[in-house]
Amino acid sequence: MRFEPLTHTIGAIVHDVDLTQPLTDATLAGIREGLLMHEVIFFRDQPLEPAHHRALAEAFGPPKPHGAYPHIPGYEELTILENDPRVSLEPPRIDSWHTDMTFLERPPLGSILHAVIIPPSGGDTMWSSLSRAYDALSPSMQEFLLDKKAIHDFSWGFRHSLAAPGGRERLAAMVEANPPREHPVVRTHPESGKKAIYVNPLFTTRIVGLTQAESDALLAFLYQHMITPEFTCRFRWEVNSVAFWDNRITLHRPVNDYWPAHRRMQRITIEGDRPS
Ligand SMILES: [Fe+2]
Repeated sequence: MRFEPLTHTIGAIVHDVDLTQPLTDATLAGIREGLLMHEVIFFRDQPLEPAHHRALAEAFGPPKPHGAYPHIPGYEELTILENDPRVSLEPPRIDSWHTDMTFLERPPLGSILHAVIIPPSGGDTMWSSLSRAYDALSPSMQEFLLDKKAIHDFSWGFRHSLAAPGGRERLAAMVEANPPREHPVVRTHPESGKKAIYVNPLFTTRIVGLTQAESDALLAFLYQHMITPEFTCRFRWEVNSVAFWDNRITLHRPVNDYWPAHRRMQRITIEGDRPS
C-alpha cells in the first residue's frame, strides 16, 4: 500500500489496494494509519458492491443510518446522495462547509463515500484540516478556546429542508430525536491526540458563555480561518472513486458547480464517540 499525498497538510491517494477483495488485518492497519496521518484518504477504481462498502465501514465501527436521506434497499446504513434533474429541478442543497452530524451526542468517526454517477465536469469535494487550523492559531487564542463549548443544532442545519413543502412532517422524528447539544470548541482526537477546532457553519449556532454578538464574531473568524486554502485539499471524482474521511478532525464541502448534471454518491457513516 502506498500513499500519495495531495498536499503537505491533508489528503492522500492510496495505491495498490483492492477494496472488493477480503480486507486483511495488514490492509486495515495500513488504511487506519493513513487516515490518522492524512485525515482524508482516496481510492481510485473501486467498483464497490454494497457488501464491500459495508465491510470496510464495519472494520472501523458500527455503521450509522441517517434518517434524513434515502438508502439502498436491504442496506439501511447505505445512504444515497443523489441529484438527478430528471427527478427534481431543485439544485443540491448542501452548500456550506461542515462536519457531518455534529448535532449528535456522538458524532460520526468518519464516512466512506463512493462515486457511482459523476457529472461530466465539476462536482469536486473539498476537505479542510481542523488540526492544522487549530495549530495555526496564536497560543492566546488556543488557550481562550480550550474550555469553551458550542451548541450544535439539527434544526438549524436542516432549516431549509424543514421549510420545504412537507419537510416538517418528513423530518419530525429527526427533530424530536435531536435537540440542540453542546460539544467542546476544541476537541482532542481520541487516537492521534491532535487538537482540532470543532465548530462548523452548518450546525453550530453559538459559543456558550459569550454574548450573541461576541459568539457571532468569533465563529465568523473561525469559519474563515478554518478554510484557509493551505489547510484544504480538493478531490476530483471519477466513477468508482472512494473517499474515507476522519469526521473528528475535518470539515468538508461539496462544490455545487455541476448542476443540472446528474450526480449519485453512496455513503456509509461510522459511529463515533463523544467529543472531549
Ligand atoms: Fe457531509
